[in-house]
Amino acid sequence: LTNSQQSAATNSPQDQNLLPYRPRRLRSSAPLRESVAETVVRASDLILPFFLIPGEGEEPIASMPGVSRLGLKGFLHGLERALNLGVRSVMLFGVLPDSAKDERGSSAADPEGPVPTALRAARAAFGNDVVLYSDVCLCAHTSHGHCGLLKETPRGVIIDNDASLPELARMALTHAEAGVDFVSPSDMMDGRVGYIRRALDAAGQTEVGILAYAVKYASAFYGPFREAAHSAPSFGDRATYQMDPRNAREALREAALDEAEGADFLMVKPILPYLDILTRLRPQTHLPLVAYQVSGEYAMLKAAVQAGVLEEPRAVRETLQAIKRAGADLIITYYALQALEGEWL
Ligand code: PBG
Repeated sequence: LTNSQQSAATNSPQDQNLLPYRPRRLRSSAPLRESVAETVVRASDLILPFFLIPGEGEEPIASMPGVSRLGLKGFLHGLERALNLGVRSVMLFGVLPDSAKDERGSSAADPEGPVPTALRAARAAFGNDVVLYSDVCLCAHTSHGHCGLLKETPRGVIIDNDASLPELARMALTHAEAGVDFVSPSDMMDGRVGYIRRALDAAGQTEVGILAYAVKYASAFYGPFREAAHSAPSFGDRATYQMDPRNAREALREAALDEAEGADFLMVKPILPYLDILTRLRPQTHLPLVAYQVSGEYAMLKAAVQAGVLEEPRAVRETLQAIKRAGADLIITYYALQALEGEWL
């Protein structure tokens, strides 16, 4: 401000009419506020996750009120509801009983598993009216619950990066053959995007794309998901493959690598504690950015609502708007159905 602007902006009573800057003018009525709103959250911005179990059934997830694991019929019914509400995209996660798990996560590439089965059924029922994403990771399939294969070394048991890549590619190919649009590797092994891209191309699956969980932090906010997906590690943690919450430059490097390896979308996950990462990533890439409002973020909101301290529609709307404002094109959220059904957006 110039000196004269500054003195004009002082608020002494006799100067009141001289105030040149009045931002409140643009907030004076609801229609006006609507007309100058910078951020819109649309139904087509949302990706609805599904937890799929073999066979039929519906199992409510205690830590995520309002979310259930679903069998095939329940999934197709939920998908139809979502499509009718304007959702265009869904993300599929498989949940398996312990009896189906082994050291190598072999069930990940089973074409009769819950995810390939659901992909074929969704495609048969809704054709190209739905965009199908599938999570690609071994943790729901391995007996030890880690996202890659184990290896004994002189320094102890490690997660074997390079030996895990062919298993992840087999899982991705199984989903491609079942009709997925975008496989979504969430394991955080180095080089997996490039490895999966080459495997898809070599198999003639050039149309199938990759949504890379490029920036995935080792987060406390995945707790409810691990209950939902029976995928908690049986020993240790994921800190040797998922990212350290203290790091931001490392996130930009992970994203640049996944883009160079052929990713079609880049994800940041979780999102509320990492909005700064999304905003910093936005100018680095021309790819669409996806934000994952994870299970712990959902559970945290639900708990506050149940405790009577937050108003759910407003609180949920505000988080989704913040995520878009920070730079997301798409948002994976367990709230997608509730937010659209309740007209909270
Ligand atoms: C699989 C995977 C996880 C999530 C998505 N894919 C869990 C994890 O890394 O332990 C978490 C999603 C959520 O918390 O909603 N690796």
